[in-house]
Amino acid sequence: MNMDLNKNNREQWKSRSGFILAAIGSAVGLGNIWGFSYNLGQSGGAAFLLIYIICIILIGYPIMMAEFTIGRYSQSDAVGSFQKIAPGKPWVIGGFMGVFAAFFIMSFYPVIAGWVTRYFGVYLTGGFETSAENDFIGFISGTTGPLIWHFIFVALTTAIVFFGVQKGIEKSNKVLMPLLALFLLVLAIYSLTLGGATEGLRFMFSPTWDSLTNPSVYLAALGQAFFSLSLGMGALITYASYLKKENKLPGAAASIVGFDTLLAIVSGIMIFPAVFSFNIDPAGGTGLVFMTLPNVFIEMGRVGVIFGFLFFLLLGVAALSSAISLLEVPVSYIMRRLNWSRRLTVIVVGLAIYIIGVPVALSIGPLSHITIFNLGLMDLAEYVSFNLLLPLGGLIISLFVGWGWNKSAVLRESDFGQSVVGTIWIWLLRVVSPFIIVLIFLSSIGIIGS
Ligand code: PHE
Repeated sequence: MNMDLNKNNREQWKSRSGFILAAIGSAVGLGNIWGFSYNLGQSGGAAFLLIYIICIILIGYPIMMAEFTIGRYSQSDAVGSFQKIAPGKPWVIGGFMGVFAAFFIMSFYPVIAGWVTRYFGVYLTGGFETSAENDFIGFISGTTGPLIWHFIFVALTTAIVFFGVQKGIEKSNKVLMPLLALFLLVLAIYSLTLGGATEGLRFMFSPTWDSLTNPSVYLAALGQAFFSLSLGMGALITYASYLKKENKLPGAAASIVGFDTLLAIVSGIMIFPAVFSFNIDPAGGTGLVFMTLPNVFIEMGRVGVIFGFLFFLLLGVAALSSAISLLEVPVSYIMRRLNWSRRLTVIVVGLAIYIIGVPVALSIGPLSHITIFNLGLMDLAEYVSFNLLLPLGGLIISLFVGWGWNKSAVLRESDFGQSVVGTIWIWLLRVVSPFIIVLIFLSSIGIIGS
């Protein structure tokens, strides 16, 4: 990280832009491209997008501001922050849940990022001739392939944190993130020429009423909003804890939320016209992008190989900076708690993450017979993280900043001050977000509605 040590010997960002870059690096990742298209495709398209955007505005932005405020004020990790602000109170459960959620997400995130890394490798050596779909299915149902690429990605993430060269990644993000955005835009425009454009755009932007009455669409949109913005598990509390006091938070949060959302929508415009052009099932699940995009690159002819190479490179780096932020949550907690060095902690946590990821990496192939609640291990890990752990963590954070902490201190520490916007923010945290989250939970388990 681009950090100095402060007088308490805690690392600190050197500049405001270092922090914003790192937070954008955390937010932009597989969630924007893989997760967004997977969830939008499975939840019937436009209705999902509409609810997603409402969730981003009413819940995502306010909770991001809550996490930033907690972190910068407490200058501590996800658990320590709650203990510092409200010693002896049960709010700290939110912090422990965050550490737990980090492990949970890291059981599948590097597996999928491993697939991205593998595709990068394929394009580096010439790309696909025909039928990327069969290749993908063959690959993910194997044993050694998924395990090796999973290992490579975990090793890469751990090595970067171990050698403390996050600084390099964040600096390169300054160039790579805008490049990724530009690249998605070019591919989106190309995808619109493929014949499935009308159908793809209708799917994304024209909501049908029956999907709007389906509670699982609401839950999927809520979960995706949390996941994509890296909220609900203390990743942004941890990052903001390395921030000096003099940085302004509301503008920073707005630019991060805006960029992340824009990127997801553009990536949808890149993926769905192609999905319909190639007759792929939009509800194809986890593999959707991996089966769709190679077809687009094949269609492009020879330049497609270069496009494929650059695309998976950029997506891989985006996934890497998100994985680093996920790793940082348990690492910074364990370092303080057990008084271990950063390096020892990183090795132990990295090893643990690799081990819990192994059954998930094999869950589409040799371990596909293991199902819990009718879901394979990977689907289960994704479902629990997106739809349960993150929204629940977010609920606690929202209530904590709304009710568990002195209001004038919150307003001052958030940089909103005694303003109208600040008051609206507090009430979003106190009532609106918790209400919506609970409502969506209850209706999706069938307690409310049909
Ligand atoms: N937001 C990241 C992505 O879109 C994933 C993530 C979730 C990172 C939660 C940190 C915490 O890929």
